[in-house]
Amino acid sequence: MTIPLLDLKKQYQSIKQEIDARISKILESGRFILGPEVSSLEAEVADFCQAKYAIGVASGTDALELALRALGVKAGDEVITTPFTFIATTEAITQVGAKVVFVDIRLDTYNIDPEKIREKITPRSKVIIPVHLYGQPCDVEEIMEIARENNLLVIEDCAQAIGAEYKGKKVGSFGDIGCFSFFPSKNLGGYGDGGMCTTEKEELAEKLRMLRVHGSKNKYQHITEGRNSRLDEIQAGILRIKLQHLNQWNQQRREKARLYTKMFKESGLADKVILPVETKDVKHVFNLYVIRVRHRDELLGFLKSKEIFAAVHYPIPLHLQEVYKQAGHKIGDFPNAELTAREIISLPFFPEISEEQISAVVESIKEFLESNN
Ligand SMILES: Cc1ncc(COP(=O)(O)O)c(C=O)c1O
Repeated sequence: MTIPLLDLKKQYQSIKQEIDARISKILESGRFILGPEVSSLEAEVADFCQAKYAIGVASGTDALELALRALGVKAGDEVITTPFTFIATTEAITQVGAKVVFVDIRLDTYNIDPEKIREKITPRSKVIIPVHLYGQPCDVEEIMEIARENNLLVIEDCAQAIGAEYKGKKVGSFGDIGCFSFFPSKNLGGYGDGGMCTTEKEELAEKLRMLRVHGSKNKYQHITEGRNSRLDEIQAGILRIKLQHLNQWNQQRREKARLYTKMFKESGLADKVILPVETKDVKHVFNLYVIRVRHRDELLGFLKSKEIFAAVHYPIPLHLQEVYKQAGHKIGDFPNAELTAREIISLPFFPEISEEQISAVVESIKEFLESNN
């Protein structure tokens, strides 16, 4: 049985009529950029994320970079984040001229370890960017406390976690700005690129709205230099339809994750693989179902030979990436991130994945582990 890592076609089929009709309507309207669909999506995402303002931008990467710019981060400033994330998080920091300061992760959640943040704070520290990786909220309350005590700002990277909650409150509503991605594989994915910033502060919302359109408040009057980071009407129209299903899809993700975990335990594999945890007080929305296992690369190859497509998010922690060589990091600097990068594997996962598919993945992993003891 061929099992894909994710299956976007299945979801499209379930909402095809609505989507096709909306796209046609937008095409007929002749309005393609920052129009009524974008404004409505902004209001609906703000409401969904329990935020006062939401500002649509061209991608999650742009959301992060514009958030840093809106907060006034500049050359010489330091921004604290995790080495175990997608590079977009640190690219945004470097793009505004600031220095990336890494803090190791927790081994159970793979999110930044708040206990290690304090020792990295210097007079130049300006912002903390925690990432809610794989859909699991980080220790955002503790991080907000550290930020308050040290006069730091917080940007939450919620790219993988729309709808996730910490103590009943949605991610993206804790920090100064929350950044979301609508990349197709995300829990709320468009049919192209897109992103969004959320904030409680009118002044920041205003700045973000200017930055996404070349720094102008009124057309051809430029208060600052911004860029083109506009969200388009077709993406916004698609995302508005998909947002209506997001709670249900997130619930399906949680149920399918529970099923995977149950099947691993029933197969007697609980001591051979490290299963994802859901920490106290959080609602995990499982953008990915990630386990840890020894001989990971061999397992990937074995699964592929059976047409089961798994992946690794992410195989090289950022401090060891070629591009950051000049920062002088070395192996051993962030041991939890390094161990995790060696052992994690993202299994086929999407809301519509069937019980048979999950069972086939677990059975194949069992077969591999029993012959590789
Ligand atoms: C943690 C994280 N941050 C930022 C991004 C960037 O989002 P985008 O691909 O929409 O630019 C992604 C998405 O890939 C991500 O996973």
